[in-house]
Amino acid sequence: MSVLRADAAAIARAAAALGAGDCVAFPTETVYGLGAVAFDARAVAKIFEIKERPTFDPLIVHVLDTAMLDRVARAVPPLAAQLAERFWPGALTLVLAKRAEIPGIVTAGLESVAVRMPAHPVARALLAAVAAPIAAPSANPFGRLSPTSAEHVRAQLGARVEIVLDGGAAPLGIESTIVAFDPAPTLLRHGAIAREAIEAEIGPLLDATAASGAAPQAPGQLPQHYAPRTPIRVVDALPPRAQRARAAYLGYTSGAEGYAAQRVLSPGGDEREAAAHLFEYLHELDALALERIDAARVPAHGLGAAIADRLARASAR
Ligand code: TXA
Ligand code: MG
Repeated sequence: MSVLRADAAAIARAAAALGAGDCVAFPTETVYGLGAVAFDARAVAKIFEIKERPTFDPLIVHVLDTAMLDRVARAVPPLAAQLAERFWPGALTLVLAKRAEIPGIVTAGLESVAVRMPAHPVARALLAAVAAPIAAPSANPFGRLSPTSAEHVRAQLGARVEIVLDGGAAPLGIESTIVAFDPAPTLLRHGAIAREAIEAEIGPLLDATAASGAAPQAPGQLPQHYAPRTPIRVVDALPPRAQRARAAYLGYTSGAEGYAAQRVLSPGGDEREAAAHLFEYLHELDALALERIDAARVPAHGLGAAIADRLARASAR
């Protein structure tokens, strides 16, 4: 595996690899993705192999611009267009009717396709260089912690990936928010754009995040996902001191005494900062191989909803 600083030469090399039917890991503003050309079913199949991802789990297709969007989606309903106008390029994924050219493996046989126009300059340069949409899930083994740095990708996927473009830490640090429109605007996954911001634009969303009890449509909605190897639990109150010595603590605004290690997501209680640190800190605490991680409960409003969602799934058994 080569981890390459994402300069022009590295991006050209990664684009050539994609063009030749290989997979490449690359940074986006949310998390690192493991990509393949979306029209190339064999290349996309490699993503599933590398991640050990079940093929019932559809991928997000990344596009550079609206011209590329037109090669992926058959139609964009007015409310979707409104959200695209407001939030793209950015951390919003829209589920739209797919074009026949998108192979079934990308969408797990669904007639819809999840599409996102990323803002990260490296992702955009890569899309421009391959001149084709890139299907890319997060670059982690299925069900595990999402990668927010090239080092996370190297540590988790190692020799399974030829090229990792290193664009530094993913600035948002949490996955995109997913919205579907058929038959009505519906939140499928909490993410880096707060539900409130989307509702301010198009009005109330139906809620199909699994937290609402609806049947899961997306594996990000599976009860257990985003999990570290170390057992993790969400705590409302600190356990007795004797139970802290061989555990780690993930605080929201403050730490706790007596733990073997701890991280604080955002001392100032800023949800954006907390989201940006979430996976980074979970990777760090997980690497310590302690008995347990105790995570403080994060208030579930704004981006806190996405953080609370990831912690709930990471701790589900
Ligand atoms: O921020 C992100 O969205 C990152 C970066 C790399 O773009 N990608 C990401 O991909 O989080 P992934 O595969 O980890 O999550 C994609 C989610 C899955 O839960 C999948 O089931 C859902 O999107 N999804 C994909 N296509 C769908 C569709 N047609 N209908 C409903 N959900 C879909
Ligand atoms: Mg993922």
